[in-house]
This record gives sequence, structure tokens and C-alpha cells, in this order.
Amino acid sequence: MKDFLQISKERYTTKHYDATKKISDKDFETLLEFLRLAPSAVNVQPWYFYTGSTQKAKDFILPCIPDFNIPRVEESSHFVVICARTELNEDFLNSLTVKEEKDGRFPSEKIKEAIDSHRKSFSNMHKDLGDLKEWTAKQAYIAMTALLYGAASMGIDSTPIEGMDFDKADELLGLKGKGLKTVAMVTLGYRSQDDSNSTRPKSRLSKAQVFSSLD
Ligand SMILES: Cc1cc2nc3c(=O)[nH]c(=O)nc-3n(C[C@H](O)[C@H](O)[C@H](O)COP(=O)(O)O)c2cc1C
Repeated sequence: MKDFLQISKERYTTKHYDATKKISDKDFETLLEFLRLAPSAVNVQPWYFYTGSTQKAKDFILPCIPDFNIPRVEESSHFVVICARTELNEDFLNSLTVKEEKDGRFPSEKIKEAIDSHRKSFSNMHKDLGDLKEWTAKQAYIAMTALLYGAASMGIDSTPIEGMDFDKADELLGLKGKGLKTVAMVTLGYRSQDDSNSTRPKSRLSKAQVFSSLD
């Protein structure tokens, strides 16, 4: 297992995959766990994921992918479409508390009620502020980040994709009326030998440009 700094230095956005190399079922299950186990504000987990690996699944999703991103999907082993909830209704919020109780999170009824109420007030606050969709999308991006780094830790390459037609993706996935919105996509697999992006040095702003200490 590589250390996290090394993974951060080596992870990169794959532009071309070796289409002959497939992620094993076992490894893909692990990748899905990185998504499922991701943290979110008040443990709200406002996400849903559609996955695919077959040509049929790729053909299904490709109409929402612009030309420049098509190879990232076609040559990949697997893809994950990342969706965020556009509403957090009472039933869904209650289901989180039920699951947390089942998972043994509450030492007392009082704590259960406090956590349930805290989660509902945060969710309602964002609803009232009118930024619920942005809030849930932020949480979904955390899951996406976990997937990118988790994959890299396993030697699996990835491509985060925002360059897609979200409305078209919603239409293809039939999300209208389901309280979900597509926010991004990740393709996964193993880099092609001639993926020029794999040899390009990483470029980031300097420490001085992005950090100030308040000590
Ligand atoms: C949210 C997000 C969306 C991105 N969308 C695309 C995309 O649609 N197509 C693509 O080729 N790269 C995409 N990228 C890759 C970025 O261009 C890349 O992360 C950035 O240039 C830094 O390079 P690195 O990932 O190789 O370190 C995206 C990255 C992020 C984080």
C-alpha cells in the first residue's frame, strides 16, 4: 500500500485507457465501497450512483458525453455516474435515522432524537436558503474524491468528468420525478501505454499562493 502523499503525487486524470484491461469484479466492489463509505454533512448521504462496464451501458450513457470526453468513456473499464438528491424529504431523512439506529449509533433515545432533529434542521435550512441542490452536490463531490483517491491507492486510473450534458444524462437515466440530478461522472480503468497525460508533470499553484497560516 502506497502512502497517501505518494498517491496524491501520482494520481492523475487519465485521458486514454487500455481498453483491453478490465477492473476485476472484486476490485470494482471495493471502489463502490469508497463511494458508499464517504463522509457527508450530518451523514446525509444525498447521493446515488449508476454504474456500467458493458458496451451496452456505455452506448446508453454516451449521448450525454461531448466529443472530447468520448474516449474517456469508450476506452474505460467501468464508469460511475454521480447523482445528488434534489430534495430531502421526511421519508428519506427518517430512513437515515432508522439505519443509524440499526447500525448501533445511538446510546439513548435522547441522542437519537437530537441527531435526527439536527439533520432535519440542517436540511431544512438549505431548503430555505434555496441552496439544497448545491449542498447535496458538494456532498456527492466528496464521494467522487474518495473514489478517485481510493482507485489510485489500488493502482486503478480514473477520470473525473464534468464535461457532460447533465440534463441529457438526467433524461437518459429517467431522473425526472426521482428527486435526483446528475452532477458528475468518473470513468475508471488502466491507462493506455500512450496516454500522454501520464507522463506530463503535475502542475499546481505554489504553497505561498494557496496557504496562509493564522497561527
Ligand atoms: C470536478 C472535475 C471535473 C473534471 N472534468 C473533466 C472532464 O470533463 N474531462 C477531462 O478530461 N478532465 C476533467 N477533469 C480533470 C482536470 O482537468 C484535472 O483534474 C486537472 O487538470 C488536474 O490534473 P490531474 O487530475 O491530472 O492532477 C476534471 C476534474 C475535476 C476535479
